[in-house]
Amino acid sequence: MMSLLGFARKAVLCLTIFHAANPLGSINGASAQYLLGLGIGDITGPVVETNMMGYASLGQTDTGLHMRQRSRAFIVADASNPSNRIVFINSDIAMGDTGVRRSIVAALTAQFPGLYTNDNIALVGTHQHSGVGGYLENLLPQLTALGYVKQTADAIVSGTVAAVQRAHANLAPGKLSLGNTTVLNANINRSPSAYLANPAEERARYEFDQDKDMTLLRFDDANGNPRGFLDFFAVHGTSLYENNTLVSGDNKGMAAYLYESMVEPNAAPGSTSFVAGFVQANVGDTSPNTLGAFCESPGQPWDGQPCEFNHSTCGNKTEDCHGRGPGFLTSDFESNRIIGDAQFQGAKTLMSQTLTPVAGPVKAVHTYVNMANHAFTLPNGTSVKTCPAAMGFSFAGGTTDGPGALDFIQGDNSTQQNPLWQIVKVFITPAPSPEQIACQAPKPILLNTGFAHQPYEWTVSSVDIQMFRVGQFVMLIIPGELTTMSGRRIREAVRAELIAKGVVGNDAYVVVAGPANTYGHYIATREEYSVQRYEGASTLFGPFTLEAYIDKYTSLVPFLAPSATGTPPSDAPPAEQTSKAISLQTGVVLDNPTTGKKFGDVLVDVAKTPFTAGQNVSAQFVGANPRNNLRLDSTFLTVDRLVNGAWQVFRTDSHPSTRYQWLRTNLILGFSTVTLSWVIESGTPPGTYRFTYFGDSKPLIGSIKAFTGHSGNFTVS
Ligand SMILES: *[C@@H]1O[C@H](CO)[C@@H](O)[C@H](O)[C@H]1NC(C)=O
Ligand SMILES: *[C@@H]1O[C@H](CO)[C@@H](O)[C@H](O)[C@H]1NC(C)=O
Ligand SMILES: *[C@@H]1O[C@H](CO)[C@@H](O)[C@H](O)[C@H]1NC(C)=O
Ligand SMILES: *[C@@H]1O[C@H](CO)[C@@H](O)[C@H](O)[C@H]1NC(C)=O
Ligand SMILES: *[C@@H]1O[C@H](CO)[C@@H](O)[C@H](O)[C@H]1NC(C)=O
Ligand SMILES: *[C@@H]1O[C@H](CO)[C@@H](O)[C@H](O)[C@H]1NC(C)=O
Ligand SMILES: *[C@@H]1O[C@H](CO)[C@@H](O)[C@H](O)[C@H]1NC(C)=O
Ligand SMILES: *[C@@H]1O[C@H](CO)[C@@H](O)[C@H](O)[C@H]1NC(C)=O
Repeated sequence: MMSLLGFARKAVLCLTIFHAANPLGSINGASAQYLLGLGIGDITGPVVETNMMGYASLGQTDTGLHMRQRSRAFIVADASNPSNRIVFINSDIAMGDTGVRRSIVAALTAQFPGLYTNDNIALVGTHQHSGVGGYLENLLPQLTALGYVKQTADAIVSGTVAAVQRAHANLAPGKLSLGNTTVLNANINRSPSAYLANPAEERARYEFDQDKDMTLLRFDDANGNPRGFLDFFAVHGTSLYENNTLVSGDNKGMAAYLYESMVEPNAAPGSTSFVAGFVQANVGDTSPNTLGAFCESPGQPWDGQPCEFNHSTCGNKTEDCHGRGPGFLTSDFESNRIIGDAQFQGAKTLMSQTLTPVAGPVKAVHTYVNMANHAFTLPNGTSVKTCPAAMGFSFAGGTTDGPGALDFIQGDNSTQQNPLWQIVKVFITPAPSPEQIACQAPKPILLNTGFAHQPYEWTVSSVDIQMFRVGQFVMLIIPGELTTMSGRRIREAVRAELIAKGVVGNDAYVVVAGPANTYGHYIATREEYSVQRYEGASTLFGPFTLEAYIDKYTSLVPFLAPSATGTPPSDAPPAEQTSKAISLQTGVVLDNPTTGKKFGDVLVDVAKTPFTAGQNVSAQFVGANPRNNLRLDSTFLTVDRLVNGAWQVFRTDSHPSTRYQWLRTNLILGFSTVTLSWVIESGTPPGTYRFTYFGDSKPLIGSIKAFTGHSGNFTVS
C-alpha cells in the first residue's frame, strides 16, 4: 500500500516536473525530440434506419453493424517548445466536414486553451463508403440522407474529442521516422481515359496511372518501442458495395483492425494502446476494384463484358457497369478483407525496416480561401480565376464503384420517393449565367450549386487550406479528393518551394491527406477536367481548381519555416449552416416485445451441433431499436467463452467476424428482431461459448431501459 502510494506520488511529481521544468523530454538522451500522443475514439452513429455516406444512394439505409467507425488521433509536439504542436485526426468517415470540425475545434479549444486550435487540428476522412450518413453540413451531400442527422454528427464529435483527450493524456517523449514501399494490387485507376488526357511526357515520368507508393510515419517511444503510425496510401473506400447495409470501416478500417489486433490480440477492437492510422491520399480516381469494371446486364449480349472504356457504360447505360474487387467471386466483404490486408502488409513491411529518422520543428499553418471567384496568377504570368461551384452532368452518372449517384435528379421515377428533393428542388432552378457557363467551360452544368444558397448552402465555397510539418515531413491537408496526377503535381510543387525557400532541405518529403476538414468534392487536373468524367464533373470551382490550390499551398510555405510567426491572411470561414438544417429522419417512437416475450428473449437459438472454424453460428432475439443508445466505446453483442467456469468476453460487435443485424418487424406495434452471428475464426480455442445481446428499449412514455439476452450455450470443437 505504502509503496504503491509512494510510486503514485513520484509519478505525479515526475509528470509535473516534466511538463513545467523539463520540457526537453531528454529522459533517454537527445533523440526524443518530440512529445507524442495517440488515442482512439468510437464515432459510430445510428446503425439502423439511417442513410449511409459515400455512394449518395437513397436506398442504402443501414440495417446493422459489421465494424465500428473510429477516430484515431495523433499528437506531435516539439519537446523543446511544446506549444508548437499538431493534432492529426484520422477518422473513419467518408470526408471531413466543416460543421463537425467546428464542433470538435470548439470542444478542444475550450478544454485546452491555446494548445489545440483551429490552425493545428486536422480532421481527415478515410473516405470510406460504409459509414453512417447525415453528418455533413451542406445540403447536397445530405440529399439522400433526408437531411441532417444530428445523432450521427454528435457521435463523430464526441468520439473524436475523446480520441484527442486520450492522445493528450498519454503524451510522452518519443521519436518519429519515415519510409516508403510499393504496394501493388491494391488500387487501379477507375477513370483511365481521363488520366490519358494528361500530357504524354508527364505520364512518361510514372510507371503506373495510380500511385503505388505507401508512405509511413512511425511513432516510437523514447526507447524505440513502436506506439503506432500514420500510413498514407491512395485507394477509394469502396470495397464494400452500394448494396451493403452493414456499417463498417471499409478497407482502411479493416487494415487498422488487422494491425492493431496483431499487436494486441487480446484487446477489444478500438481499445488498443497501439494506434494504426491508415490515411487516405490522392484518392480521386482510384478504385479498390482491381479486377476492373464489367457489365451486369442479364440477357444482353454485353453481359459480363468489360464496360465501354471512355464512358464506363454498358449498352449506353452507366447503371449496369460495376467494378469488381479481388474477392468478387466470394463477396465484397472478401474484397474488403483483401484490400485491407494489402495495406496492412505494406505497413508491416515498413515497420520491420530501419526507417529514416525525422528531425526538425513542428509547425502548422491554416487559412480559408473562398474558391468562388478566387483570382490568382499562373506560373506563366497569366491571371485567371476560379468559379462559383457547379456540378457537371457526369456527376449524376456516378462511377464504376457506385453508379448513378443522385440519379433521381435527372427526373426518373425515384424523384418522387425523395421527400427532401421535393422540398429543395425549387431552389436549384436559377439557370447558370453566361459568365458562369464560360467560367466553368467545358463543363456542362447540371447543378449550379454555387448560386444555390436556399434553404442553406448546397456546397462549400470557403475551404480550409492547411499544412503540417514535422521535421522534413510535410502533410498537405486537402479539402477534397485529388486525382492521382493532381496529387503528384501539388506534392512536387510544394516540395520544390520548400527547398527553394530554404524551409526544408533536400530531404523534404511531402504527402497529401484528405478529403479533410471540409468537403470541396473533387480536384482533377485541367486536362482531366476537359474530359468531364465523374471526377472532372465533380471538380467544383472550374478548370483552374487545381492550379488555385497549388498556388495557395505553395504561397503558405514560408509559414513552415522554423522561425515563422504570425498567420496568413484569410478569407471568411464558411458560415454555419447546421442551425438551418432540415432533418426529415424521425425519432424512435417505441419498442415492444412480441406477445408473451421479453426484450432479449431468444426467438431462434443457436443450432445444437458442435461448430468448427469457418462455420457461421447465429441466434435471433426479441430486439429493440439500437438508435435508443449507440453504446459508444462499448458493444451491442459479445461472444462469451467459458473459462474455468466463468464467462469471458471473446468477441465484440467490432470484430469483423461478428455481425449485428436489426429488423423492424412491426412499425405500429414496435416489434423488432436482432440477429447476432459469428463466423468462427480458425485457431479459436475449443470449448463452450454463447452470445450476449445488449439492447435498450424505448417505451411510448417513460425512459429508455437497458436489457441483455443470452443465447444457449454452444460448443466449438
Ligand atoms: C521514397 O523514399 C525515397 C527515399 O527517401 C525517396 O527518394 C522517394 O522519393 C520516396 N518515394 C516517394 C514516392 O515519395
Ligand atoms: C451487390 O452488388 C454487386 C455489384 O453489383 C453484385 O455483384 C452483388 O450480387 C450484389 N449483392 C446483392 C446481395 O444483391
Ligand atoms: C476514347 O476516346 C478517345 C478520345 O476521344 C479516342 O481517341 C479513343 O479511340 C476512345 N477509345 C475507345 C476505346 O473508344
Ligand atoms: C449506343 O449509342 C450509340 C450512339 O448513339 C448507338 O449507335 C448505339 O446503337 C447505342 N447502343 C445501344 C446498345 O443502344
Ligand atoms: C499561361 O497558361 C494558360 C493555361 O495553359 C494559357 O491559357 C495562357 O495562354 C498562358 N499564358 C502565356 C502568356 O503563355
Ligand atoms: C415510371 O412510372 C410510370 C408510372 O408508374 C411507369 O409507367 C414507368 O414505366 C416508370 N418508368 C421507369 C423508368 O421505371
Ligand atoms: C451468418 O448467418 C446470419 C443468420 O443467417 C446472417 O444474418 C449473416 O449475414 C451470416 N454471416 C455471414 C458472414 O454470411
Ligand atoms: C451454459 O453454461 C453455463 C456454465 O456452465 C451454465 O451455468 C448454464 O446453465 C448453461 N446454460 C444452458 C442454457 O445450458
